[in-house]
Amino acid sequence: MFLGVGARRVQELLRGEMEALGMVVRVDAAGNLRGTYAGAAAGESVLLIGSHVDTVPNAGRYDGVLGVAVALGCVRALRGHRLGFAVEVVAFSEEEGIRFKLPYIGSRALVGTLGAAELERVDGGGVSVADAIAGFGLDVKRLGEAGLTPGTVGYLEVHIEQGPVLEALGLPLGVVTGIAGQMQLEVGFRGRANHAGTTPMGLRQDALAAAAEWVGVVERYAAAVPGLVATVGVMQVGPGAANVVPGSAVATLDIRHAEDAVRERAAAELVRAAERAGEVRRVSVTVRELSRQAAVAMDAGMVGVIAGAVEAAGYGVHRMVSGAGHDAMILAGRVPAGMLFVRTPGGLSHHPDEAVAVGDVAVALGAMMRVLEVVSD
Ligand code: HGY
Ligand code: MN
Ligand code: MN
Repeated sequence: MFLGVGARRVQELLRGEMEALGMVVRVDAAGNLRGTYAGAAAGESVLLIGSHVDTVPNAGRYDGVLGVAVALGCVRALRGHRLGFAVEVVAFSEEEGIRFKLPYIGSRALVGTLGAAELERVDGGGVSVADAIAGFGLDVKRLGEAGLTPGTVGYLEVHIEQGPVLEALGLPLGVVTGIAGQMQLEVGFRGRANHAGTTPMGLRQDALAAAAEWVGVVERYAAAVPGLVATVGVMQVGPGAANVVPGSAVATLDIRHAEDAVRERAAAELVRAAERAGEVRRVSVTVRELSRQAAVAMDAGMVGVIAGAVEAAGYGVHRMVSGAGHDAMILAGRVPAGMLFVRTPGGLSHHPDEAVAVGDVAVALGAMMRVLEVVSD
C-alpha cells in the first residue's frame, strides 16, 4: 500500500541491494526508490528499468517486485562493467491504486501528472495523498525533483504476464506490444433502509437488490463483447444488518479493452443499466469516475529489440497486448517504453498462489542482458 508500513521495509531491503552494487540511491517525493548505476562516462544518457513494489490485498509475491529484482539482477550481472549509458532502477511506490483508488501514483510523479487533484485524493480514513507523503517524511513541495532523470532515453519493465497465454503456448517469455485501456468507476445505489420483517416486498427501495441485478448485467454484457473485461470488485452495503433492507450499496466497476471506443461504449451502457436497475426500485444511482487510462502502444523500436533478445535466447517470439495495467503505460507518454513478460504458471495473479518458474526468470535475465548489449551498441 502507498507509503504504508511495508513500503519502508521494502525500501530498506532494496536500498541495501542497490548500495552493495555501488548504485547511488534516493527516495523521491512520491516515495519511489531510485538507484543509479553510472555509465562509462559522466553525463551519459539514462535507461530506466523497474516496476512497482506495492500490491493488492491477499496478493502474490511477484506482481511488480519481480521487475525490480530482475533490474537489479542485470546490474549485478554487469559485474562492475560500465555501459555507454547509466542504468536507473526504479521501484515505484504505488501502481495498484488500492489505498486512494488512484493507480500509478509513483510513475505519474516521473511524468509530471501527479497534480493537485491527485494529491487531494483521500483514503478511507480521510488521509490525502499529500498527507501520506508528508507522513512518510517526504516533502511534497519537492515533487518537481521526482521527474524523469534528465537524459532518460527509455523505460523497460519486466513483469509476470498474470494470465494463461504464455503457459498455453509453452513459452517462457512474451513481448508486450500494447497495454489495454482501463477505467474505474464508483457506482452508488441509494434506496431506503427499512425493517426486513415489516416492509412488504412491493414497498421496498432495496439498494442491494438493484446492485445485484446490475452485477449480472455487467457480467453478461462483457461476456458478449470480444476482448472486453468488466469487474465489480468491491461492494459496500449499508447499513449491513441481516434484519435491515439495504439502503445503500456502493460498487466499483473496472472496465478494460484494447480499443478505447469499445471500452467507452461499454462504460456508457453499463451506467445506463445501473440506472435502469435503480429506477424500477426507486433507488437512485450516482457514478463517480475514479481513474481512466487510454490504451497505449509500446515503442516499436523497443518491441523489436526485446523480440530480438527473446529470439537470440532461442525461444519463439509471442507478441501480445497486456490486459493488466502497468507503469509502462504511464512512462510511454514521455519516453520509448517496452515490456518483457514472464510466464505465469496457472495464469494466476493478484492471488497468494501467483508463481514464476526460476528457469523462466533466468531466461528473462539473459534476454534483458541482451537488450542492454543491443541498446549499448
Ligand atoms: O489492475 C491492474 O491491471 C494492475 O495490477 N494495476
Ligand atoms: Mn497488479
Ligand atoms: Mn503489476
